[in-house]
Amino acid sequence: MVSTISILGGRGKDGRLDAIDRIDLRMGQVVSIVGPTGSGKTTLINDIELFAHEDTPTGRTILINGEPVPPEFRYNPACNPIALITQHTTFLSDLPVGEFLAAHCRVRSRNGQSVDLVAQALQFANQLTGEPIEPTYRMTELSGGQTRALLIADAAVICSTPVVLLDEVENAGIHRARAVELLRQHRKIFIFVTHDPWIALLSDFRIVMQAGRILQVLSTSDEERHISSHVHRLDDALCRLREKLRQGSRLTGRELQEVA
Ligand SMILES: Nc1ncnc2c1ncn2[C@@H]1O[C@H](COP(=O)(O)OP(=O)(O)O)[C@@H](O)[C@H]1O
Ligand SMILES: [Mg+2]
Repeated sequence: MVSTISILGGRGKDGRLDAIDRIDLRMGQVVSIVGPTGSGKTTLINDIELFAHEDTPTGRTILINGEPVPPEFRYNPACNPIALITQHTTFLSDLPVGEFLAAHCRVRSRNGQSVDLVAQALQFANQLTGEPIEPTYRMTELSGGQTRALLIADAAVICSTPVVLLDEVENAGIHRARAVELLRQHRKIFIFVTHDPWIALLSDFRIVMQAGRILQVLSTSDEERHISSHVHRLDDALCRLREKLRQGSRLTGRELQEVA
């Protein structure tokens, strides 16, 4: 059972030490990683995924439950508690979605429940994407948004990996807030890279990166929680604008009335 993941500080690109010695992430927490392009966000996510042990360019170490990672976690995919979902994830399988998920259930030796789990996973995925996924669709034909939605659902429902890492999913056409909400119900450690203020405010704290280095760790303050509903309305309005532009409509200004 994974209950905490700890990041022990290493160094940034110029060799300066991370500003923290240690960050503990507990089960049920949602954590975002923020910072400009090139600041080391993906690198930090990769350190976690690789269970770094002072053997990556950053010199960081990852502990599980306060201990170095047991070898079976590193080398046996069935034990790996971490699911990493990136912009570039693609499938090597061309099976229909339903068969892929069922096969995955069998690998995870949860035979008895496999019908249920496949249906559950599809239902989960379809809450995250605007373009519903049918069990008969082929894996390789899914859109970027559908792919990411399915991977998140697979990680949450079928693999039930306790740790989910998401690298920059904003433009991938999934409902990010819904993903945060659903993953919170599944009690995981959920770590994601985001440029999106509303999503950042939904998290318990955020890790700020600069020049490859952990600059600071900020807990979401009461004041920030307070403004998050306003930020949400702004975000909604922007989403509506984006959607209209995408569909070739003209903007009228009415899209912004509710947030004025
Ligand atoms: N701590 C570090 N030490 C050495 N190189 C680093 C470090 N952090 C990031 N880098 C390098 O800097 C570049 C940008 O980092 P990346 O993690 O891709 O940034 P981001 O995801 O924030 O855009 C990459 O080539 C990465 O290998
Ligand atoms: Mg990146």
